[in-house]
Amino acid sequence: MQTIQAATYPIHFQQKGYQNLEKLLTQKKYSTLFILVDENTKQLCYPRFLKHLNTLLSIKIIEIKSGEIHKNLETCVTVWNKITDFGGDRKSLLITLGGGVITDLGGFVASCFKRGIDFINIPTTLLSMVDASVGGKTGVDLGVLKNQIGVFANPQMVIIDEGYLETLATRELTSGMAEIIKHGLIYDAKLFNQIKVFKEQNTNSLIHRSIEIKNEVVLQDPKEKNLRKILNFGHTLGHAIESLYLESDEKENLTHGEAIAIGMICESYISSKLLNFSLQKLAEVRETILSIFPKIILQKTDFPTIVDLLKHDKKNVNGNVNFVLLYDLEDYKIDCKVSQELIIESLLYYNS
Ligand code: GLY
Repeated sequence: MQTIQAATYPIHFQQKGYQNLEKLLTQKKYSTLFILVDENTKQLCYPRFLKHLNTLLSIKIIEIKSGEIHKNLETCVTVWNKITDFGGDRKSLLITLGGGVITDLGGFVASCFKRGIDFINIPTTLLSMVDASVGGKTGVDLGVLKNQIGVFANPQMVIIDEGYLETLATRELTSGMAEIIKHGLIYDAKLFNQIKVFKEQNTNSLIHRSIEIKNEVVLQDPKEKNLRKILNFGHTLGHAIESLYLESDEKENLTHGEAIAIGMICESYISSKLLNFSLQKLAEVRETILSIFPKIILQKTDFPTIVDLLKHDKKNVNGNVNFVLLYDLEDYKIDCKVSQELIIESLLYYNS
């Protein structure tokens, strides 16, 4: 697969990634190699990574607990302490080996440690391959509020090795499909049509195209001043729903993709009401998403909490909630205001 060039770093695929990693380790003369993993990626992915790693550098593994619940500043402090205890310095390199929590948190840890050390992302989930590991967003949650603390910081390289996907449970693999669907809806109708006939064992070309799209958008607007906001399609309501489940003791957490899938159906509905997104396409979006994701019935009693959680969305300006909506596939409008009534109506549409 063809390497994709981001602003300051390459995104390599498979073997080429490991070959270029070896070159980089020689060129940059790093002092220590830190590998950030969680208990799952340490057991399931680290052995595969080690097989491809050829270096005489001292390697230190730092393990954190898996799960969004641990994507916080407390975990960062633990990692900073470990790097310090292991004698990390400004010539240390941090390799993140894991899903979105590991790549987001690891990138943030690296970019703050001694005002910034190099890091490399090796995403091991579909979600982190097509979204989190590319584009320079790093950070952690603040309580249940997603990604409230963070910085833009680019890795030295991203390595996409689809072999890691074999370690994933189906629910995790499916989660990443939400971002691929999003890229299709906002940017490439052909990709969306491919997803309609998606087979689980046939993800490689979807992954490559999806990363290309994300990269094209980020190259034009790295700091999300304008165009990059389109990558938030489905995420305004999706993040609020994800937070609702995260903060509830009775509800089982949703995967990021499950929440974004609901968000995309609701926001397509809102698009049909405000921007004349065609009813036929709305039905296609709903049908495609529900052929991949389970239908989760939202409790009406939770609607006010969802609306309330929207107040914390990072795209808000002057207290206004801003949505990305669709006129059509590949045709969007950013910074759309939506009434509370229509938001509730869209949640009812999803449930219907
Ligand atoms: N996940 C959206 C973005 O990277 O902008």
